[in-house]
Amino acid sequence: MKIRISDLSKHVGQSVTLKGWLFNKRKSGKVQFLMLRDGSGLLQCIVFKNNVKEEDFDLAKSLTQESSFEITGTVKEEPRAFGGYELDATALKLISKAEEYPITPKEHGTEFLIDKRHLWLRSKKQWAIMRIRHRIIKAIRDFFDEHDFTLMDSPIITPNACEGTSTLFETPYFDLGSAYLTQSGQLYAEAAAMAHGKVYTFGPTFRAEKSKTRRHLTEFWMVEPEMAFFDLNDDMDLAEEFLEYIVQSVLKDRKLELEVLERDISKLEKVKRPFPRISYTEAVEVLKQNGVDFNWGDDFGATDETIISSQYDAPVMVHRYPSEIKAFYMKRDPENPKVALAVDVLAPEGYGEIIGGSQREDDIELLLTRIKEHNLPQEFFEWYLDLRRYGSVPHSGFGLGIERTVAWICGIEHIRETIPFPRMIYRNTP
Ligand code: 4AD
Ligand code: MG
Repeated sequence: MKIRISDLSKHVGQSVTLKGWLFNKRKSGKVQFLMLRDGSGLLQCIVFKNNVKEEDFDLAKSLTQESSFEITGTVKEEPRAFGGYELDATALKLISKAEEYPITPKEHGTEFLIDKRHLWLRSKKQWAIMRIRHRIIKAIRDFFDEHDFTLMDSPIITPNACEGTSTLFETPYFDLGSAYLTQSGQLYAEAAAMAHGKVYTFGPTFRAEKSKTRRHLTEFWMVEPEMAFFDLNDDMDLAEEFLEYIVQSVLKDRKLELEVLERDISKLEKVKRPFPRISYTEAVEVLKQNGVDFNWGDDFGATDETIISSQYDAPVMVHRYPSEIKAFYMKRDPENPKVALAVDVLAPEGYGEIIGGSQREDDIELLLTRIKEHNLPQEFFEWYLDLRRYGSVPHSGFGLGIERTVAWICGIEHIRETIPFPRMIYRNTP
């Protein structure tokens, strides 16, 4: 069995062999301290001149940053060390010596680092972010499994828009003309929900966003549950239970990584149900009380969202937005048709909207009217209208953006560090 740094708690006092890369190194007289990085963690290896062959000590001295090597030694518990263990080395073997590594421990600008994203992923902070991203995705899948949802993957190549026509990526599609990269799997999730009751889609989604903000990517991952017989309140109940579960899972299993990121975890500990729920109209009042000159009917900008969410410790659910600014498929509130049965969940600490969801229009006539109002080509929506023709039921769902969620939970400034290889309006490499 190959042993990794994350397995060391089971090997204290034993001699083990590990393989990895040189993260950094320092020396003190007859000792070389090699920081080994193997993907599962970091381990300080103590290479004492008298404990190893001369050639091995020379190798330790000559190792360059990011050289790959194999090291054998005895595992010691060391509470002060990163990860809690140290290795007393007895032998070393070079795998491949690295050329001069471009990312050194000194400060680098973000543009430089993002050009070197394929290497930047090896650094400690980026490692911690990706491990938290992975834990968030696992929590999402576990949550839906435990709640009896069926995963129904939706297509990426689609014939029409779902979230407005202004952010579509178009691609030529053989003799059929143009196709578009999906903005959301929702419409397909609705069909799947009529077959399985409770479903979710989880995949990459695309928006040709013209905005160069710290919250926008052109390719991002979205998870979208869709449930038959759920109204907007049921939808919000599910969203808050889901978010609480995700945050608490990360707190439980990613302590070390949150520490690397210097995340203030007391803020995350407060993410407990029930979350505050306010209507759009109430949120507008909050803005006015805070001196913002805001017109009922306008959409919230990033600073508006920050003001609203900063009133609370937990994420806030803002519901019943003006129908005019929301998607065609959202059901209008029967008690006030000016508003849609929509909900946006705004993360605390200024991270903005992480979830968008709604109850869906289940009346075929009203849905047809909306499709016309939005100038959408009806022929492409015939299959979607069928869902209202054959046993239409009230149903709801939402979409959670993975990268914004990672940014919030990790407490990092910009969304570009939350996905392995970010795609933005001005960048599609490496
Ligand atoms: O609010 P949105 O546009 O909702 C939908 O797409 C619905 N069809 C979801 C549903 O009801 N099934 O997007 C949902 C979430 C946002 O709250 C945000 O977290 C994320 O997707 N998102 C983006 N993340 C990164 N970059 C972008 N350009 C994003 N656009 C949306
Ligand atoms: Mg939205």
